[in-house]
Amino acid sequence: PAMAGAPRGAFILFEGVDRSGKSTQAARLVEALKAQGTPAELWRFPDRKGTVTGKAIDDYLSAPAPAAAAGAAASAGANAAPGSAAGLSDQAIHLLFSANRWEKSAALVDALRRGVTLVVDRYAYSGAAYTSAKRTPGCGLAWCKAPDAGLPAPDVTLWMALPPEAAAARGGFGQERYENAAFQEQVRAAFASVRDASWVDVDASKGVDEVAAEVLREAVDAVRRCREGQPILALWD
Ligand code: ADP
Ligand code: TYD
Ligand code: MG
Repeated sequence: PAMAGAPRGAFILFEGVDRSGKSTQAARLVEALKAQGTPAELWRFPDRKGTVTGKAIDDYLSAPAPAAAAGAAASAGANAAPGSAAGLSDQAIHLLFSANRWEKSAALVDALRRGVTLVVDRYAYSGAAYTSAKRTPGCGLAWCKAPDAGLPAPDVTLWMALPPEAAAARGGFGQERYENAAFQEQVRAAFASVRDASWVDVDASKGVDEVAAEVLREAVDAVRRCREGQPILALWD
């Protein structure tokens, strides 16, 4: 059980396809928790700024998608300049995303133990879903999950459930590497294979306020469980 007077914070994770409302709801949830006196911080992965790996990941994501087919469009740019992150292999970028989480893992556990609730926008489930969706030979689900095994596990994962048509209605894709409809569908399918007992489905097709109310209920419940001594578990162990 947690030490008396020092309840730990909760690790609350948002996962979902692009435009499912993760970033909108994560920001709102932090404010709602603080307003009711729960110390809370917003974290996101990839962490593009406060890490050694962040710059390479940022360069990779902002590089133009190289080819036409869904898998190929998401995969490495064969003609990128040597030494540029834009041309990293699927394996190398996957391991960088994982390393980016490991860079923050000690600080993450520290914050939880100090009583801070962390609202996190994407994590290892995104890592496994996006890489396995590329269908790169040798990079099946088990390979994709292995480097993240043992990371601190979320206390609850809020899956922002949104049908593809609804996601499409939320506006066009930006310029980043994975932002095309065919690849997004492969990612959606891959997410279904990584869901675990921490997952709760949120109906993300409702209005922002309604979604926020449902999210807050789940979050408050997780904060209570952690206060009551629910241990920090290891992911995929
Ligand atoms: P994500 O971080 O999952 O990609 P965002 O929070 O950035 O998603 O939201 C994607 C887009 O959809 C933004 O334009 C946002 O304003 C809009 N949006 C977010 N939540 C809703 C909602 N519940 N209903 C309609 N539009 C939404
Ligand atoms: P993010 O910065 O959250 O962008 P957005 O708000 O548009 O969703 O994530 C950037 C991209 O990185 C997104 O397409 C998902 C992908 N990603 C991975 O491929 N592997 C990972 O481990 C993570 C965390 C994200
Ligand atoms: Mg976002």
